[in-house]
Amino acid sequence: MRSIPNSIVVGIGKGGSCKTTLATQLAGIWSSEGKRILLADLDVQASATKVVGLDPREVGDGRHLMDAVMYGDDLTTIKARDNLDVIAAGRYTKTLSHHLVTSDNGPESFAVPFEKLMASDRFDRVVFDLPPSGSSRLADMAMQTGKYLLVPTSAGVDNLEGLRVLAEELEILESDIILLGVVLMKIGAGAPRKRAETRAEVAEILAGVADPFHTIIREAGAAYDDSRKAGLFLHEYAEWASTVSVTNQIHAKIKIPTNLADLAREFYELADEVDDRIALAERILEGVNP
Ligand SMILES: Nc1ncnc2c1ncn2[C@@H]1O[C@H](COP(=O)(O)OP(=O)(O)OP(=O)(O)O)[C@@H](O)[C@H]1O
Ligand SMILES: [Mg+2]
Repeated sequence: MRSIPNSIVVGIGKGGSCKTTLATQLAGIWSSEGKRILLADLDVQASATKVVGLDPREVGDGRHLMDAVMYGDDLTTIKARDNLDVIAAGRYTKTLSHHLVTSDNGPESFAVPFEKLMASDRFDRVVFDLPPSGSSRLADMAMQTGKYLLVPTSAGVDNLEGLRVLAEELEILESDIILLGVVLMKIGAGAPRKRAETRAEVAEILAGVADPFHTIIREAGAAYDDSRKAGLFLHEYAEWASTVSVTNQIHAKIKIPTNLADLAREFYELADEVDDRIALAERILEGVNP
């Protein structure tokens, strides 16, 4: 089975499980820390493309990945920030997904353009933002050719049910992807019992495969939405907010959510934890294949 070097797939989960939020905020933090990141949007909704501030129609509408996979063109990347390039999604992402349904060598034709890019040494990591489970062949291709998997989940029966079928999904796809862990998202900071219960439940579901990450991303819809409206990553928005004095907030009638700084800090902590798990996995893999 192929494995795209240094690839992290953010996926598995129904609509709204925070796949895009997780993929984009981690990509944003890592790039701000100096890692050269390629963010690959595989969802026809093009949410990740929009989060980084691009208009899908102005950056190829998903055509670049389609042309690379279907016609062997070099994969075009779009610069979004220093150290952060994007493979944009859009209308043509659907065309590509349909094409892959009938293609005999889907995983190979999907992986080759990314393998070439990673071999060119322009990027340290590629982060894939997947569409909702079961909605696109592109998600299957990424699960079959990605190296590491990160799974977001929030509390609630439906979300946890999705985790229970994770092993089954990977088996059906014959995927060798390495599960780095599950990230608990959108759980209130003021709900310690719910946090503990959800963490325990996830740990039980994943028993022996991977632990849930220690960092939990709090419920903070308003803070997240404000950062989106500003066209910034959370960490960028929080940094900007920290420079606005209370007097200026009052004069300009800007209301900065009080939990913004905590939310941004949690993503920093999570990014560090994911780094640590990748480093650990790399050491184990080196031991296996010295
Ligand atoms: N910390 C948070 N607290 C509350 N809501 C949040 C938080 N972070 C993100 N959200 C909201 O969660 C929703 C789902 O986010 P997101 O788009 O990341 O999900 P997704 O899994 O990518 O969805 P899809 O399957 O449609 O691609 C969004 O409406 C976003 O505003
Ligand atoms: Mg999404």
